[in-house]
Amino acid sequence: MKKLVIALDGPAGAGKSTIAKAVAEKIGYAYIDTGAMYRAVTWKFVQTGHAYEDEFIGELSEKMVIEFQPRDGVNHVFADGVEITNFIRTPEISKLVSPLSAIARVRVAMVAQQRRMGEKGGVILDGRDIGTVVFPNADLKIFLTATADERAQRRYKELIANGMKVDFEQVKADLVQRDYQDSHRPVSPLKQADDAILLDSTGMHIEEVRDAIIKMIGEKEK
Ligand code: CDP
Repeated sequence: MKKLVIALDGPAGAGKSTIAKAVAEKIGYAYIDTGAMYRAVTWKFVQTGHAYEDEFIGELSEKMVIEFQPRDGVNHVFADGVEITNFIRTPEISKLVSPLSAIARVRVAMVAQQRRMGEKGGVILDGRDIGTVVFPNADLKIFLTATADERAQRRYKELIANGMKVDFEQVKADLVQRDYQDSHRPVSPLKQADDAILLDSTGMHIEEVRDAIIKMIGEKEK
């Protein structure tokens, strides 16, 4: 069977990482969470305590080695050998990641790593620019979305479940602002590729979305 490259793009909180992980597990593909890579660079930058400078952050991103290890249903994330899985989804990192990921040099470094990780196929990548920039020739492109309210609800529940004290309206405002920033930046903006399939998951269960995507993959693998 053909080992495909699957691109899963969409706005914040659309459920991309949950879906991509579930699909990958079910069909034995590797899962690359590109958002986690930009979050890892943001985390590393915060650790340095350095002033916010594009050049400094660009250089930092070029030196970083980011790895994933799927284990016990969790996609563990490592930056230069240190596990950072639980540190990269805080509201602080979420706020900073969007401007930071608009730095051209950071994008060049991350895209190069993503292409290396995915070049052999048998892989699903989720992000904002996978179908448009990272793998414009991907075998299957899906643009996953849902209403802003539903996406904010999902993110709110996730943060609460992780023991964080957050306000729903604030979570929603942050998410809407991040989407605006991601869609309006000059480099690799969040945008549905012309040949991507639009999948609106509003009101759908995770399993339904997962199975719809697995069906699409099955069609392409033939
Ligand atoms: O989980 P959520 O959808 O909220 O975000 P994420 O996928 O973890 O991505 C975090 C941020 O990284 C996004 O808001 C973008 O600013 C940036 N990102 C990007 O620029 N390009 C990608 N391929 C993936 C993420």
